[in-house]
Amino acid sequence: MIERTEWEKRNGHRGKVLWFTGLSGAGKSTLAATAEKELFDRGIRCVVLDGDQLRSGINRGLGFTDEDRQENLRRASEIAALFLNVGFVVLVAMISPSAQARSLVRRRFAPEEYAEVYVKCPVDVCERRDPKGLYRKARAGLIPQFTGIDSVYEPPAEAELTIDTESFSEKESIGLLVDYIIGPQ
Ligand code: ADX
Repeated sequence: MIERTEWEKRNGHRGKVLWFTGLSGAGKSTLAATAEKELFDRGIRCVVLDGDQLRSGINRGLGFTDEDRQENLRRASEIAALFLNVGFVVLVAMISPSAQARSLVRRRFAPEEYAEVYVKCPVDVCERRDPKGLYRKARAGLIPQFTGIDSVYEPPAEAELTIDTESFSEKESIGLLVDYIIGPQ
């Protein structure tokens, strides 16, 4: 078996899991996808694991009860761990609303291999953006247990990085993120 340190030597950088948490519409998927491109351009091996994407495949069948959301996160963290073993920078974008479930994810990794990125945006702003029209549907009672409407989001108290997408432009947000991952250029 090839050791992770050997992969990291081959890749030319350390592996890491960056776990993006925040409301639907806060910008998690956009930030993760743009960061992936920036990292790719710099020769960094990276992968995005997105809640919607996982839910259409490996996590199909899971719903939005507390239990299902926790299982959703657990599976994502196990997939992230597999990529980490081969030295990837793993960008996980999932609402991850429960502090306790996030803490279980955090404990799955060593401190230096994990960072929580809080993609911060007030619910009224996310609702105004409503990129997928889901808040409108939730308000109409068509999506039960919708995070921020009738299901709670617990903001993280110990995020390694907070990106306020209400105040910062997409470009500024990406700059902060890339600086955090690879250091200022
Ligand atoms: S999590 O809470 O389990 O972390 P995850 O990030 O995987 O959520 O999935 C969130 C996505 O599922 C949203 O972006 C949205 O497209 C969709 N979705 C469908 N129903 C809900 C709901 N009740 N609450 C939140 N998101 C929902």
